[in-house]
Amino acid sequence: MSTTPQTELWRRAAQTRQATALAHPNIAFIKYWGNQNDNLRLPANPSLSMNLASLHAITTVQFDDSRPADSLTINGQPVTGPGLARVSTSLDLIRAEAGLKLPAQVTSASNFPVGSGIASSAAAFAALAVAGAAAAGLPASGSSLSRLARRGSGSASRSVPAGYCEWLTGSDETSVATSIAPPEHWDLRDVVVVVSQAHKAVGSTGGHSLAATSSLQAARVAGAADRLAACKAALLARDLPAMGAVIEEDAVIMHGVMMSSRPPLYYWTPETMAIIQATQQWRADGLPVYFTIDAGPNVHLICDAAHAAQVEAAARQIAGVQRVLVSGPGGAARLIDR
Ligand code: PMV
Repeated sequence: MSTTPQTELWRRAAQTRQATALAHPNIAFIKYWGNQNDNLRLPANPSLSMNLASLHAITTVQFDDSRPADSLTINGQPVTGPGLARVSTSLDLIRAEAGLKLPAQVTSASNFPVGSGIASSAAAFAALAVAGAAAAGLPASGSSLSRLARRGSGSASRSVPAGYCEWLTGSDETSVATSIAPPEHWDLRDVVVVVSQAHKAVGSTGGHSLAATSSLQAARVAGAADRLAACKAALLARDLPAMGAVIEEDAVIMHGVMMSSRPPLYYWTPETMAIIQATQQWRADGLPVYFTIDAGPNVHLICDAAHAAQVEAAARQIAGVQRVLVSGPGGAARLIDR
């Protein structure tokens, strides 16, 4: 999309107080659910994910003293209220670090359905962190950008580095994501089976604060580091059966926490369960594919590139499937030339 080097784009952004960034959403193989500190979005457990190359958000931030206040447009629609307030909170962090007092105009667009369990907030807040920091004249430091993204949406921390990323627990300074393998390490596919494009009744920010009300959350958190170690080892060894077993277990444990929270959160629909059962059957028939599910009813089928077309075709046969998106591993959040 852009051949201008990042250093040149960062230099120009600081000069013009304007920047445009692109970031991919990510699919978690080991899930983040619940915070140690809701305000700072310090996660209860470490997590691991893959960026999704075919999906992206593109966000432009322009600091402008002729404006009365921050403004936000998403996919062509002006956004006010809580949506704008959340973006302004991220901008305030950037402004405080840069010693800047200017309001900003933010425009964002994504090429995938928002609010349907395809972590749109991850891509949006990663792109906002990178564009905002660049336009404010902050340095291009991966860890501070991941931290800024995390403060907007936890999983956004993992959309800042490239490829396969691990996000650590820790303090406000140390809880950041780093790449454990570049996209080229393993040509996996996420075949996203969309059964609903509706907005979730309870979004992930509300869901995280309910996690501790489930008596299963302590056990989930206690086992997360071991599941992450197993997933990371399998990923680095490109061992899909080993990785698949642990990602399915981790997703189901998270949904157990969700369903046993007070009040309970049931994200699954009958279509979700049908796809889980179909996945088990496909595997029994020799097709190597594993599922994971975020905070929504849609199912992410993980397989290698060689089997993606077969998995996609099989998924399209299931009643209630609205669309299927396919993505390989994506790169880091970055500035683009506009
Ligand atoms: O970053 P948030 O607050 O949208 O939370 C994301 C939570 C899950 O998608 C369910 C899991 C994850 O690790 O991405």
